[in-house]
Amino acid sequence: MKKVLILGSKGMLGQELVYVLEKDENYEIIGWDREEINVMNFEELRNRINDMWPDIIYNAVAYNAVDACEESEEEYQKAKKLNGEYPGELAKIAKKLDAILVHYSTDYVFDGKRPKYPEGKNPGCCGSGCPGCMYKGAEETLDYYAYHEDDVPRPISRYGRTKLQGEREVAKHAKDHYIIRLSKLFGKPAKSESGKKSFFDIMLDLGVKSDTVKAVDGEMSKFTYAPDLARTSKEIVENKLSNGIYHVANEGAATWYDGAVALFKIAKLSTEVTSVPPEEFPRAADRPTSSVLKVTKIKNLRHYTDALEEYLTQRGK
Ligand SMILES: NC(=O)c1ccc[n+]([C@@H]2O[C@H](COP(=O)([O-])OP(=O)(O)OC[C@H]3O[C@@H](n4cnc5c(N)ncnc54)[C@H](OP(=O)(O)O)[C@@H]3O)[C@@H](O)[C@H]2O)c1
Repeated sequence: MKKVLILGSKGMLGQELVYVLEKDENYEIIGWDREEINVMNFEELRNRINDMWPDIIYNAVAYNAVDACEESEEEYQKAKKLNGEYPGELAKIAKKLDAILVHYSTDYVFDGKRPKYPEGKNPGCCGSGCPGCMYKGAEETLDYYAYHEDDVPRPISRYGRTKLQGEREVAKHAKDHYIIRLSKLFGKPAKSESGKKSFFDIMLDLGVKSDTVKAVDGEMSKFTYAPDLARTSKEIVENKLSNGIYHVANEGAATWYDGAVALFKIAKLSTEVTSVPPEEFPRAADRPTSSVLKVTKIKNLRHYTDALEEYLTQRGK
């Protein structure tokens, strides 16, 4: 029986990792969240993990307040410690115990300015997901500017920089490790006290109160369904794939607007979605205009609309 430690076990992703792994009788699962430990206390972290001696560690803890850390120096320091330094400490602990470390990162490590056209080819799309563009959503066009696992990261926000630092610390200090990048996570709201709802739940709440909702037609990327990500993470480890960076996200690149339209269609709600440019929702941190993650090392996940349908059925719409 393998001993598995899940850090951030009450978060949106962490709770799904617990669910997926607990069903497998080959694993003994230990889940820690804020109530069990403050992972920023590195000494306590080291002592307690050493005592437990897990075979596999999944790290779903992160600082995710993208705008707060852009606005405040104090928040930025917290983000640097949690997203940047802590994964390195964890990597050192995992290495010493010969444990596999699975760590999560983000499409926000990219700047969204990937050269759009391969030599001699112009697919006709600028890749920005401009409202009304005839190429928008065409998978073959999106492929030209999707980010591969080995593309050079160039974050444009403080959050992105801290996550990139975390990736580098893990790669530097861990032995057996996987760094999994995802984007636009959705699923059941986190169980933790300050647990956030995903975009789709926020939209559904708004859609119940109003006939019309506004959604930004920008920031083209992929949605990632937390249960699909949890299952895929387990498979990556069990199949003993090579160490390194993996992109894991559901098929179907979409802007927030595209996602909202798909949501109300699947939920069979007549809520009208108005497309608005990103400038109408000014936020402190810059986001990549397009950060579609190309999944090249594992087989493609199902389309996000199929995953969304399952989520809405389970949620009771
Ligand atoms: N959400 C997205 O759209 C998205 C997109 C791209 C990448 N990611 C990445 O995916 C991973 C999982 O994200 P998520 O959305 O599932 O995160 P989440 O819901 O915020 O879960 C993180 C969990 O870690 C806990 N935690 C935070 N600080 C802690 C500390 N110092 N000690 C112990 N526990 C602590 C949180 O508790 P509290 O709630 O009490 O703080 C929460 O339960 C992260 O690496 C994230 O960067 C997420």
